Amino acid sequence: MAKEENKHISHAEASKTLETETKKMDQEFKEHSVAEFFKKNKQMLGFYGKVRTLTMVIHEYVTNSLDACEETGILPNIDVKIDELGKEYYEIMVKDNGPGIGQDNIGKAFGKLLAGTKFHRLIQSRGQQGIGCSGCTMLSQMTTGKASKIITGRKGKKAISLEITIDPKSNEPKMTNIKEIDKAFEGTAVQSKFKDVLYRDSEQGPLEYLRRTAIANPHAQISFRDPQGQKITFKRTINKIPELPREVKPHPKGVTVDEIITLVKSTKARTVQSFISNDFDRTGAKSISELKKRVTFDLNKDPKKITWEESEEIIKAFKDIDFIAPTTDALRPIGEDQISKSLHSIVKPEFLTVLTRKPSVYAGGFPFQVEIAIAYGGDAGRKIAGEGRKMEIMRFANRVPLPFDAGNCALTHAVQSIEWKRYNIRDAENSPVTVFINFISVHIPYTGAGKQSVADEDEVLEEVRLALMSTGRRAGIFISHKRKEAENQMKRKMFYKYIPEIAKALKEITKVSEDDMKKRLEKLVLEKLKLDEAKDAEEMKRMQDKMDKDSKSSVGDGNGKKAKTKKKKGKK
Ligand SMILES: Nc1ncnc2c1ncn2[C@@H]1O[C@H](COP(=O)(O)OP(=O)(O)OP(=O)(O)O)[C@@H](O)[C@H]1O
Ligand SMILES: [Mg+2]
Repeated sequence: MAKEENKHISHAEASKTLETETKKMDQEFKEHSVAEFFKKNKQMLGFYGKVRTLTMVIHEYVTNSLDACEETGILPNIDVKIDELGKEYYEIMVKDNGPGIGQDNIGKAFGKLLAGTKFHRLIQSRGQQGIGCSGCTMLSQMTTGKASKIITGRKGKKAISLEITIDPKSNEPKMTNIKEIDKAFEGTAVQSKFKDVLYRDSEQGPLEYLRRTAIANPHAQISFRDPQGQKITFKRTINKIPELPREVKPHPKGVTVDEIITLVKSTKARTVQSFISNDFDRTGAKSISELKKRVTFDLNKDPKKITWEESEEIIKAFKDIDFIAPTTDALRPIGEDQISKSLHSIVKPEFLTVLTRKPSVYAGGFPFQVEIAIAYGGDAGRKIAGEGRKMEIMRFANRVPLPFDAGNCALTHAVQSIEWKRYNIRDAENSPVTVFINFISVHIPYTGAGKQSVADEDEVLEEVRLALMSTGRRAGIFISHKRKEAENQMKRKMFYKYIPEIAKALKEITKVSEDDMKKRLEKLVLEKLKLDEAKDAEEMKRMQDKMDKDSKSSVGDGNGKKAKTKKKKGKK
């Protein structure tokens, strides 16, 4: 019936309905702030899953503390405390001894999304978006209705304490209870409450996150108190603050049309020519003259007046011109010795091999570098109740652990693409192995705002694979040697078990006394085993030589020779 009636709606009636509907739509058209957007889409910031969310909050505060300390040349001391306030309800406190935050900026730092000191620069740092700690302030107020408390102080100035929330409508901070503190305090402490989160001592929990942070940051001291009151301190293994990474200019092969339009807004250059030669990496006189030949407009033009089409012309020309590869000396790897020290101190492996490769470039314009370690035995591998230890992959980006979204990450894909059997690591999945991968870059190609996985850039995959193959070879030699040793032990046991019986049987035939026969047989066995061991040693040497030869041809810096093997007890 209703259908029949609809059929007979007159033209006038239909156009009236359309008019009221469009009017309603116009009235309903609203703007919303970035804060409102992320409030509705908190999963985009990595805040989903109860355990994951709690770890992500710790991650945001701790990475900020590490960044701030390093930028100002301070050896970081970071305290993290978690208190359980109720069911799925926790309070988190993170305190650092960093430079503190100036009063004018506290609001923006903790109470405004997409605000910070790191977004507009190409520098190897942990944070890059200006969304981390302000996202936590938002999450805290969304789940508990409470403000976050901040105390921050600078040398020679009185520390201040305050409470902060974000106004989601305007994405502006609201600060209350601002007080000066009489006690001297240098650094920043943040205390905030969260509901619908859960503390777990698991691979994706805060303790493991901090353990990995300590491994990749041997210069940092990190103390942790869990909700049960248990304390653990990861002591620093080196007292040297990492050398500050340098900021780099964008490389012409790594920019887009839109980025040029953005960059011209803040340039001090008076002409497009000086804008290109001053504000970009590797744009010398030769490339400028090449550019001149390829564009239809005058390069003496005011860069602020550049049109979209002209910017397109520049990018097209950039694609055709050969530029020198980007500057890579701005990167700061952890270093083989330091990775080795911290893994020995925290994972205590039987065997460890570490490799820092030479810097390389992805997508034509972004310098990056890869560091790999393979640890075997000791506390290496993931402990699974009742199943022993399994292979674990520790992924890091600019020294920050990436415990989530492993399946979506180029670093995992590279590990999965390796045929471990070729390196004598049989059944790699079920071996007590930790694969450590630190990917560093002035711009990490994260696959999302949650910053947990690296995009599958071809060059990145290739570099990680090469480093894995190189370290895998070394680990394989150790592992196969270990396996052979175990096999020889077994053989020895077997032979000795049967010697008395064989001696008894032979006595009947040969009339040689049982004792004498035993001695002769033992001598025979020993000779055979020695022969086997000599053969194994020879094979090891052959493999080692081959590995050295291969690593010279495929590995960037060859520093891998520093790789360490702990001397095994009883080994001659
Ligand atoms: N503990 C701290 N000490 C000093 N400055 C800090 C601290 N925490 C935050 N800041 C300042 O606040 C800014 C905003 O931090 P936020 O975590 O929101 O973004 P970010 O670290 O710049 O980038 P990302 O979103 O990738 O984490 C930082 O850029 C930094 O300037
Ligand atoms: Mg941050």
